[in-house]
Amino acid sequence: MASRKMILNVILILMVSSSEALRLLVFFPLYSKSHSILGQGMVSRLLEAGHEVVHITSFPRDKSEANLTEINLQSLGVKMKAEAEKLEQFKLKNLVGKGNFGDSLFFIYFTHEIHKQILDDPALVKLLSDPKEKFDAVILEWFFADEIAGIAPLFKCPLIWFGSTEAHWQVLKLVDEIPNPSFTVDLFSNSTPPLSFWERIRELYKVLKKSLIIGALITPFEKTIYNNVFNKIAAERGVTIPSYDEAVYNGSMLLLNSHPSIGTPFRLPQNAKYIAGYHIDTKVKPLPKEIENIMNEAKHGVIYFSMGSNLKSIDMSDYMQKSLLTMFSTLKQTVIWKFEGDLDNVPTNVHLLKWAPQPSILAHPNLKFFITHGGQLSTTEAVHFGVPVIGIPVAGDQHANMGSVTKKGFGILVNLAENMAINLQIAIKEMLENTSYTTKAKELSHIFHSRQQKPGDELVFWIEYVVNTRGAPHLRSPALSIPFYKKIYLDLLVLSMLLLYLLVLATRRFVCKRCRRASKSKKEKKN
Ligand SMILES: *[C@@H]1O[C@H](CO)[C@@H](O)[C@H](O)[C@H]1NC(C)=O
Ligand SMILES: *[C@@H]1O[C@H](CO)[C@@H](O)[C@H](O)[C@H]1NC(C)=O
Ligand SMILES: *[C@@H]1O[C@H](CO)[C@@H](O)[C@H](O)[C@H]1NC(C)=O
Repeated sequence: MASRKMILNVILILMVSSSEALRLLVFFPLYSKSHSILGQGMVSRLLEAGHEVVHITSFPRDKSEANLTEINLQSLGVKMKAEAEKLEQFKLKNLVGKGNFGDSLFFIYFTHEIHKQILDDPALVKLLSDPKEKFDAVILEWFFADEIAGIAPLFKCPLIWFGSTEAHWQVLKLVDEIPNPSFTVDLFSNSTPPLSFWERIRELYKVLKKSLIIGALITPFEKTIYNNVFNKIAAERGVTIPSYDEAVYNGSMLLLNSHPSIGTPFRLPQNAKYIAGYHIDTKVKPLPKEIENIMNEAKHGVIYFSMGSNLKSIDMSDYMQKSLLTMFSTLKQTVIWKFEGDLDNVPTNVHLLKWAPQPSILAHPNLKFFITHGGQLSTTEAVHFGVPVIGIPVAGDQHANMGSVTKKGFGILVNLAENMAINLQIAIKEMLENTSYTTKAKELSHIFHSRQQKPGDELVFWIEYVVNTRGAPHLRSPALSIPFYKKIYLDLLVLSMLLLYLLVLATRRFVCKRCRRASKSKKEKKN
């Protein structure tokens, strides 16, 4: 009887402790609309689950909310954006026919400069230095800067990484070994597995080259930032921080904003989870009346065109804008174009929107397809709503995303070019005449939604799980704890070569002895 009571008590305690509200630090500092959508989505799911959140963001909410504190980095973002906008190389018209800037040294420098300034922001430093601030876990958006890992040990709590893109070796390296480049591509690659001979060599070369650059240049630079920033803050909090390596490779979990229905089915370690789609509200917001009317009244359906929030259609060349408008004017369909400014001579079937409520547009039954730059959020939302796409990848992960889309058969790729209106028209015709893309998009959407848990619930579950299991050390990949040379058995190779050498040596000695003896006996015979 007593033991039964005890068991009941234990169960009760477990239930209470697992439903206890947590205090979480959510770090999504980038001044980029799409990244902020992912941060705000995470905050919403955590607040809905009853947790308390401190959100480091460049896009604060319009209204204050219960249990939410925001550290506003907007002015820093605006300042950095103004500097970036002076750089003509980031404008759409200057990206035509260019290599992927994600591969450039400049991009690597740029991401670190951003993070350095973020970690220097007075409001953030104040929060991190305050010994009264306590968190149950910190969730950090990883964007090519490992040094931010130092935030977690300040609070002596588990670190959860968040990867905003498809999985790739650079983010997986934080929680596991580097995946084999013969069947997994770099995030900025133009190739899609299965890879040809040359593609495999190129992917291997990319990993080797980047690893060398990271090891020789980037990591020392990151260590300097890490030590400069976190030693000072740790002293104010009265804690000591671990070494850079201990902090960076101590993530308890990696949440990935991707899903095999959209991208490559990576082989993940036990503590990496696919949660793409969590940012999309389960109940789609109604469209503004004006857009709703346009979409309802389009007799031949609607085509939605948006190059995302970072690449602006307004930065296209005049010729590109005009030729697209002329081409759109020949269509029977209504075109909704997310365009950040005004244009002259807009045809009657084209509607320009400075801001587009994308999920609500994608959810409308009268939508035919989506012309996109192929950003991760856009392809995810397209699959969520079962909408086929025409993709015009420009830079970053967009080429890899569109490679996956065309391979899976729910979209068509059009190359970015001054006169792309011609090829876009051909793709539009194909999309309208051939139903296979829509069929495929619906099929993949079904796969995307067929999960044990909704992605938003899954996100909350794993964050709570990490806290309740004190950092989930049992899920940690054993690959992290052995050095590279052991993983590829270099020690065995050395030992084998040594044995082989000794064997050769012994054989030679033996053979020589015998031949010496033989020649000796020959000589003796002669004599
Ligand atoms: C805020 O959190 C507390 C628990 O910490 C919870 O009881 C309350 O319902 C939350 N408020 C809202 C609006 O979610
Ligand atoms: C690594 O993470 C675990 C779980 O959060 C924590 O207990 C441990 O102190 C961390 N180690 C270091 C070196 O920060
Ligand atoms: C439709 O497109 C698919 C995928 O590109 C292709 O395999 C199929 O042959 C096309 N069907 C027609 C009727 O053109």
